[in-house]
Amino acid sequence: MKMRQLGPEGPQVSVVGLGGMLLSITGRPPEDQSLRVIDSALDFGVTLFETSDAYALDDSELGHNERLLTRGLEGQRDKVTLVTTVGLRRPGGAWCVDSSPEYLTESVERCLRNQAVSALDVALLYSSDKKIPYEESVGTLFRLKEQGKIKHVGICNADVPLIQRAEAVGPIQVVQNRWHPLAREVEKNGVLDYCAQTGKAFLAYSPFGGTLGAPTLTTLGKLSDQARRRRLSPYQLVLAWMINKTPTTFAISGARRAESIEDSAGAGSVEFDADAVRAVENTIPTV
Ligand SMILES: NC(=O)c1ccc[n+]([C@@H]2O[C@H](COP(=O)([O-])OP(=O)(O)OC[C@H]3O[C@@H](n4cnc5c(N)ncnc54)[C@H](OP(=O)(O)O)[C@@H]3O)[C@@H](O)[C@H]2O)c1
Repeated sequence: MKMRQLGPEGPQVSVVGLGGMLLSITGRPPEDQSLRVIDSALDFGVTLFETSDAYALDDSELGHNERLLTRGLEGQRDKVTLVTTVGLRRPGGAWCVDSSPEYLTESVERCLRNQAVSALDVALLYSSDKKIPYEESVGTLFRLKEQGKIKHVGICNADVPLIQRAEAVGPIQVVQNRWHPLAREVEKNGVLDYCAQTGKAFLAYSPFGGTLGAPTLTTLGKLSDQARRRRLSPYQLVLAWMINKTPTTFAISGARRAESIEDSAGAGSVEFDADAVRAVENTIPTV
């Protein structure tokens, strides 16, 4: 498994990470299966885990995923990095943005309790909130950092102008956006290049298009052919493409089965040169 620095000031972590969301939302597996997924991730070299207080069925059990990961990572916690997304409420199971200073502060305090730590490794602001100036939301995370409650700050779901507004508030280590073969905005809007140029970690979430998108990958004939030629699964081919496209990219893969994360982790040691990266891109249909 290749390791990379998670942003200019961040720790070294595995290029393939496990996203915890599917282990805690509707359709989640039984707990013993979830713990096996976390265990397998560790066994296969994953040291980067993504979570959120909002990864739960609804707001009556906020922190479900953090508590699960904390249990699954017991004894290994100092060897791994947890990236925590904040700024989402779950009333009645819906997903609602709340980036108010009050809610972000309350969230971070709750995360500290759920993770049983004195400082979050990395806290990411989920998104801008129409009701609150963006700088105020980002500034809240930096205030909590000054208080020693967050080690590193990042943002999610941002284009380059928004990243630059966040950077004007303080040093941003991580940007996490959606990126998968059929959703390639970050290649076109400059986010990937900007992160590479400035040394920020780019975390690709939903690299297979989520639970609905993942099965369709095997139906992309040219991609499957290319994967077979390289003795990789189609999923490994996609992750290897992303990780090798820029030197600061990490892939956050979701899994409810241990087999899935074991397979995905295998992509973390695949080296592609620029020609191989282009060859994979040529197998992806233009959408
Ligand atoms: N902060 C944000 O803005 C944000 C937003 C969305 C998601 N995220 C994070 O990103 C993570 C990943 O995104 P995601 O879960 O939406 O989607 P994803 O990783 O694109 O897809 C997950 C699906 O892919 C399947 N899968 C994974 N690896 C596989 C493999 N090697 N072979 C075959 N199937 C495989 C899984 O199957 P099984 O379930 O059967 O194992 C699951 O159905 C989330 O879990 C979450 O933690 C963050």
